Order: sequence, then C-alpha cells, then structure tokens
Amino acid sequence: MLKEIHEQPQSIVDAYRGRLLASKGIIKMGSVDNNISRFLNANRIVIVACGTSWHAGLVAEYLFEDLARIPVEVEYASEFRYRNPIINKDDIVIAISQSGETADTLAAIKLAKSKGAFVFGVCNVVGSSIARETDTGAYTHAGPEIGVASTKAFTTQITVLALIALKLGNLKGELSNSMYNHYIQEMSLIPAKVEEVLKMDTEIEKIAAIYKDAPNCLYLGRGFNFPVALEGALKLKEISYIHAEGYPAAEMKHGPIALIDEHMPVIVIATKKGHYDKVVSNIQEIKARNGKIIAIVTKGDTIVREMADHVIEIPETEEAFTPLLSTIPLQLLSYYIAVMRGCNVDQPRNLAKSVTVE
Ligand code: M6R
Repeated sequence: MLKEIHEQPQSIVDAYRGRLLASKGIIKMGSVDNNISRFLNANRIVIVACGTSWHAGLVAEYLFEDLARIPVEVEYASEFRYRNPIINKDDIVIAISQSGETADTLAAIKLAKSKGAFVFGVCNVVGSSIARETDTGAYTHAGPEIGVASTKAFTTQITVLALIALKLGNLKGELSNSMYNHYIQEMSLIPAKVEEVLKMDTEIEKIAAIYKDAPNCLYLGRGFNFPVALEGALKLKEISYIHAEGYPAAEMKHGPIALIDEHMPVIVIATKKGHYDKVVSNIQEIKARNGKIIAIVTKGDTIVREMADHVIEIPETEEAFTPLLSTIPLQLLSYYIAVMRGCNVDQPRNLAKSVTVE
C-alpha cells in the first residue's frame, strides 16, 4: 500500500499522458471526442460505482456540475441495480471501477444498457469485464493496484474524470479558453504537488502514533473535499479497524457533534477557497468541545494553525483539484495507524480486492 501511495505522482502522469496536452492547451480523449455530441447534448450524467470508486464519482459530481454545468446523480451500483431507475435516452451513464470486475457495478451497467443508455467506463484493469461491457470508456492507467485499500486508483479516476469535465466545460462554453488553459496548466503541476505532500510522511507518522489507539475518528470536509472525508474514513476503517465516519462538515451539528469530546480525533479538510470560513467555524465548534483536531490546510495557513492540534499543509491548487492533494495525507495517516496497530494493511481481514459476488 505504501508503495502504491508513493506511486501517485507517476500514476497521475500516466492517467493524463497523451490526453492532457499542456503545451497546446488542449485535452484529447478519443472515447469522448468520438461521442462528443452525445456528451454535449446529455441532459444528465448518472454515475454508478462502489466503495472508493463511488467516492471518485462524488468528486466527479462536483467537477461536472461546477466546470461543465451538467447535472449529475451518483448512485451506489448495488442500489441502482435493484431499483427501477429512470434512464432517458439523453442520459449518459458513467461506470467507475478499478478492477472492472465488481459484480454490482457490472449488473448496474447491464441494467442501464437494457434501458437504452450509453454507458462509458472508467476502469483501471485493461480488458476487464466492465471495460468490455461498456460502450466505450477511458482507462485510468494507474498500473496494477495490489493493496486491497484503493489509493492510486482513486486519484487516477479523479484525474480522468476531471479531464472529461474540463473538456466538456470548454466545449459547452462554460469555461473560457483562458480558464480552460489555466486548468490544464494547473493539472500538469499536480504530480509535483503530490510529491511535495508525500514528503510529509514522517510528520504524518508522528501524528499517527498519537492517535493509533483511538476507538473512533470523525472526518469532515465540504464541497470537493466532502467525498475526500468519506474516502479518508473508509481507508481508516478498512485497514486499521478503527470505526470512522465521514461527514460534510456542516452536517456535524445535525448529530455527530454529540460524539465530540477530548477523546475524539476529528480530521478536518480546511483548505483555502471554497467554504473555508464555514469550515473554520466548524473547527471552533469542535475546539469548544475539546475535540482533537487534525487539519489539512493550504500551505501558509495561519488561522487554522492557531486552533488545530496538528496541521498538515498541502500546496495551493484550484479548488476542483484539491481532492488529488488532500486525499494523500489521509491515505498515509491510515497506513501508519494500521501498521502501528499491527494490522495487515495490504490484505485486511474480511475484504477482497475485487468483489465479484453480491
Ligand atoms: O474495483 P472497484 O473499483 O469496482 O471496487 C469497488 C470497491 O470494492 C473498492 O473501491 C473498495 O471499496 C476498496 N477496498 C476501497 O479501498
């Protein structure tokens, strides 16, 4: 898992290689280009996936809505397949899967196709069942992911989905050429910024040593970083067996705040832009109840530093790309906590790498 976490600067490059042409300021994706009128005329995008891939789908919801103004619904494949979902001919279904073999996602694709939908796959494993079953798609090119806990698959899925959203946003006239070019240039800087975050390894290991025996953890984030909070909590649960919950930060007051006391570590993604001020007030609420705050902040932040027990800085980037950076410290934190608890991080109990049964 640690190897795969550290591979992310390279796997993100592999995900956009040949697609993100930064010097020309364009994004080229055969499977999108060949179906461009379908994409541009889509009324709605329905995303189906499970687990971490579902979290990438949630990030994509923000990307497509924000950058391309296309309405999106994100569905657990396991729920979608047993409902009687309404699929119209102008909807596009995107199925996301690392393994390309997840039974629920495969069944959701078959159902969507039976209703006449055009299904686009975002898969890692070349030639997998989902890659074959979908009408077309884009591989993430993350390389083999062996650790049961998905890491580089997540960031490469987001990379590919961001490229599609940017391209559609520009073609739909929602993103001016200069903004489009700006995002393209910014995306090309992401691998180096991920590298920078990975250098905080030792600092994160020290934080892990303090909280390794916590029975529960709460993860909070807003906007693009809400799915990252869910993903952070899933990572911790899977490999350390600590109970963890991810929440949109503002939902804390509707229930989870009752859990906060001096024994509750709360991991808050409080990067600049977006809903920064609102997240800062959530941090104050946690502080007032003596919760322990581990904050992921933008480099140079001084406000949250004053309030949090620990801060982990990530470089500044466009808000839409922050999940690619903010998720890295959460992966490392889970990894170190699990190792310190003596858990088998690569093959956690009760879990399989691909869930090919219901
Ligand atoms: O291969 P898939 O992306 O379709 O797998 C979906 C989930 O089973 C998977 O993401 C699972 O949640 C991982 N263990 C998360 O780390």
